[in-house]
Amino acid sequence: MKTYVIGGYVRDLQLKRPSKDIDIVTIGSGIDLANEVAKSLNPRPKVSIFKNFGTAMLKYKDLEVEFVGARKESYQRNSRKPIVENGTLEDDQNRRDFTINALALSLNKSNFGELLDPFNGIDDLENKIIRTPLDPDITFSDDPLRIMRAIRFATQLNFGIEEETLKAIARNKERIKIISAERVIDELNKIMMSQKPSKGFKLLEETGILEIIFPELQKMKGVERVKGIGHKDNFYHTLEVLDRIVPNTDNLWLRWSALLHDIAKPATKKYIEGQGWTFHAHNFVGVKMIPKIFRRMKLPLNEKMKYVQKMVQLHMRPIVLSEDIVTDSAVRRLLFEAGDDIDDLMTLCEADITSKNADKVKRYMKNFKVVRQKLKEIEEKDAVRNFQPPVDGELIMKIFDLTPCREVGLIKDAIKDAILDGEIHNNYDEAFAFMMKKAEELGLERKV
Ligand code: CTP
Repeated sequence: MKTYVIGGYVRDLQLKRPSKDIDIVTIGSGIDLANEVAKSLNPRPKVSIFKNFGTAMLKYKDLEVEFVGARKESYQRNSRKPIVENGTLEDDQNRRDFTINALALSLNKSNFGELLDPFNGIDDLENKIIRTPLDPDITFSDDPLRIMRAIRFATQLNFGIEEETLKAIARNKERIKIISAERVIDELNKIMMSQKPSKGFKLLEETGILEIIFPELQKMKGVERVKGIGHKDNFYHTLEVLDRIVPNTDNLWLRWSALLHDIAKPATKKYIEGQGWTFHAHNFVGVKMIPKIFRRMKLPLNEKMKYVQKMVQLHMRPIVLSEDIVTDSAVRRLLFEAGDDIDDLMTLCEADITSKNADKVKRYMKNFKVVRQKLKEIEEKDAVRNFQPPVDGELIMKIFDLTPCREVGLIKDAIKDAILDGEIHNNYDEAFAFMMKKAEELGLERKV
């Protein structure tokens, strides 16, 4: 059977990017070929067959090899599901998304290792260009997920998108609406995990895709002026923060926190005489916007989202702290609220300093160092990072023979505040003594 390695594996081989997924195309039945190949391997792998797609897959060592018969595809307007017929290698290359993804390597004895490159994909790889093999309007309209893929590959590989291809993305932008949110977010997360996500977001914005898939982020773009006073462009500021956090974290959710930290600035923006532009409570409004964004984009609605909300809510705290005298009590409160995520919060804050004024940046970074040092000292001394009150509600109710009531809450909060403000230390004896004092003020009597 005539067989070829095709697509991403060949591309990555040329780029020297390690890859474990091999796609093999054959002129004939992919399922038959997979069965024959499995027979010749030791130990013999199990073949998974996907009858509906005419494909088969086997795992061998750490490789995942997929087999498919060469095919010709034609699409209908409202669906990503093509009508499929058997075809030649050329037909199969024609139906692929980009020239760099249409490369094939022969596995046949007569021309083993020969590169079959009908669209000059090798040149495009060398020149770092994303280009469709056919008329881009057809390629994108056939499968609009390719719009996201073009921008994702450009971002991941640091390639440019060829002019006609880029124009076709903009022309076909509405077609993105037929793609499921799950597929879109997969690509968006790959952009988020790349070395320079700003590149992808700028392309999404320029082509009009961002407005469709992420209107909240689109709204951040632009500068309004009142009496000649403008604010900073929050879209580009956000992208700078995102790029700045990349070298310091591989945590996708911390990167999402960077992307969303100012998301409520457009909604809270107000020009106030004498104060200039204000964005009052944009962190709290941002926290409220996040569930809607996560739900629509099919991001997880679990503790990952809560973490992003926490980061967004607290993102200004270390800055405010560092601008003032760094008191123990303010540090304790921040530790209490951020818990184990305190280091991530500091990483976000450091990325958030994007001023062009080098002296200012230096001053902030120096202050952050002081904050980090102080956080360490206080945590070592008072252990409030994962604060559990040394005297809890149960004990308060027992000692004063109370059922759950306002007084119990008052005493509990007073103990927490006293510890966070440094009036007492975080231990049982001091908390107990404080409880007794507070109860006396409230006119409560000890019953046991
Ligand atoms: N392909 C395509 N159109 C798509 C998806 C895939 O033409 N919407 C083709 C491309 O030739 C691609 C191949 O199928 O190279 C394999 O696709 P996939 O495994 O999704 O992507 P890779 O190109 O291997 O890249 P990555 O693993 O980074 O997603």
